[in-house]
Order: sequence, then structure tokens, then C-alpha cells
Amino acid sequence: MNSNRDYQKVLKNIYNQLLFEEDFGTVASYIPELAKVSPKKLGVYLQTNDGEGYAYGDANEKFSIQSISKVFSLSIALSILGPSLWKRVGVEPSGTAFNSIVQLEYEKGVPRNPFINPGAIVIADILVTYLNNPKQDFLNYVRTLSGEETIDYDLKVANSEKKTGYLNAAHINMLKSFGNIQNDVEEVLDFYYHQCSLSLTCKELAQAFNAFANQDKPFLYNGITLSKSQVKRMNAIMLSCGFYDESGEFAFRVGLSGKSGVGGGIAAILPRGLSIAVWSPRLNKKGNSYMGMRFLEEFTTETDLSIF
Ligand code: DON
Repeated sequence: MNSNRDYQKVLKNIYNQLLFEEDFGTVASYIPELAKVSPKKLGVYLQTNDGEGYAYGDANEKFSIQSISKVFSLSIALSILGPSLWKRVGVEPSGTAFNSIVQLEYEKGVPRNPFINPGAIVIADILVTYLNNPKQDFLNYVRTLSGEETIDYDLKVANSEKKTGYLNAAHINMLKSFGNIQNDVEEVLDFYYHQCSLSLTCKELAQAFNAFANQDKPFLYNGITLSKSQVKRMNAIMLSCGFYDESGEFAFRVGLSGKSGVGGGIAAILPRGLSIAVWSPRLNKKGNSYMGMRFLEEFTTETDLSIF
């Protein structure tokens, strides 16, 4: 059994090893503002449940967390609606890309899971219905989860996506035609684009995700509360759906619960152990960070810390 738990050294060694590996993939460009980010960035932050933090590389630089924000929005919707949430969105892997629209018609407007875009848009609709000031309340919740007051939306990114978000507009209109959107489509999309534009560092992200790793601590942040069983479900959905049609591959190679975003971030969790956030902007064909996955694969192999 490998018991290399000198985390600072482990992060440094993996970082240095990956500098010599070729980085495949391309920076997301369908949101024009994201294409401006340097492809060479690589940062990581590990937060143990004991409160120790370890940083390496560009760990303190802000980046667009995009779909990683769907974990935060799902946790709010689950807290508000409880099990009735699952009437509006499923919990099965989709086997399709994050922005694929074909399944939505076959399955009559009930998205397979809350992490593919149509599922996250249904969750955004729920938040628009139930939160008093959706954008401010969402921001306050993420700030509380992370313990960092400086976290904010990146309005340039939100506007950039709004201008080019034709596919999300198609999703929400189809959802609405099936009766699975209650609010005005423009209002929901506006909230969704803000949510995705949240800008965090690896450190802030790992701190925020630690709430889902630390089952011994009551989950209560800014009025949002989850039971232990609900935190378990959050982790289960991250494991089965967090990387779209690469979720199996992520479980196979890394073995942690987690969520990716097209900004190149990945936040991952070892339940009852730690949270870790990696950022490297180049994405593979499935829309997940190529080096982010490599980093985490090496991390769980080196430390023997994975769910399995
Ligand atoms: O809606 C979108 O397409 C983006 N705001 C988020 C997509 C995303 O991050 C997919 N993740 N890998």
C-alpha cells in the first residue's frame, strides 16, 4: 500500500512531472471570453477535513468555474424542495455531451440529471422561483461555503455567453414547451449565465467543496441546510454524472466524486477526507480539463486516496 501523505511534496512532484507531459486539447472558445485565458495555467489546492490547505502552481488565480457552479445550485434546490426535486430532473448519467439536446425530446422535457445543461437550467428555474434575490442569494451562499467574501460573478463572461448561448436558448424553450420551466426564459437564462460566470481560485473552490466532503460537520451555510443523506446523494450524482459522458472514465482513472467546468477547473471530493481543486484550461473532446484529470489520476495513485 502506498502511503505517501506529505501533500505539499505530492502536489509539487505531480506538478513537475506533468510539466514534461504534452498537454492535449483546446481552450473552450464557444464562450468567446474564455478563449482569452492562457492555456498554460496549472494550479491545484488541496483542503483536508482537518482544515489544512496545500497550494501549488496557479492556485490563487481566479478562473471561470462554469459547470462546477451546478453543484452549488443543485445543493440549494435539494435543500428547498427535498425529494420532490426528482420529479423535474433525473439522477442517471446521460451518456451524451453536456450540451446535447436530442435526449430531451425523447424523454419529454425531463433532463437525465442536474449537471447536463438542460438539467442545470431546470435547477436555475427552481432557484429563480424560490430565492428572494436569486443572484445575490446565490453569491452569498457560495461566499459562505468558501469562507471568502471576495468571490464574485465575472460579468464579461456572463455577457459573452449570453450573446452566443443559442443552444441553451434551444434547451430552455424545449423545456418550457414540456412545462418544465415556470419562469420567464430570459430571466432564468440570465441567472444561469451569472451562476456559470462565478470566478474562483483553486483555493476558494476547494474550500467551498470541503462542505460536501466533511460529513461530520452539519451542512448549514447561509440558511441552506442538507441532511447527511442529501450530502451523500450530492456526492453520488457527482460521481455518476459530474463529467458527462466521461464520468465512467473519471471514476475509472481517478476514483473521486467531482465536477468539471469548461473553464478548465475540476473540483473533486474524497468523502470524509478531503477536497481538491485543479485548474488547467485545455479541454479534451468531452469538455473536461485534460491536465486536470491527469493531475487527479496521479494524485489518487500516488496517495492511495480514492473512494475505491
Ligand atoms: O452552459 C454552458 O455551456 C456553460 N455555461 C457551462 C458548460 C460547462 O462548463 C460544461 N462543463 N464541462
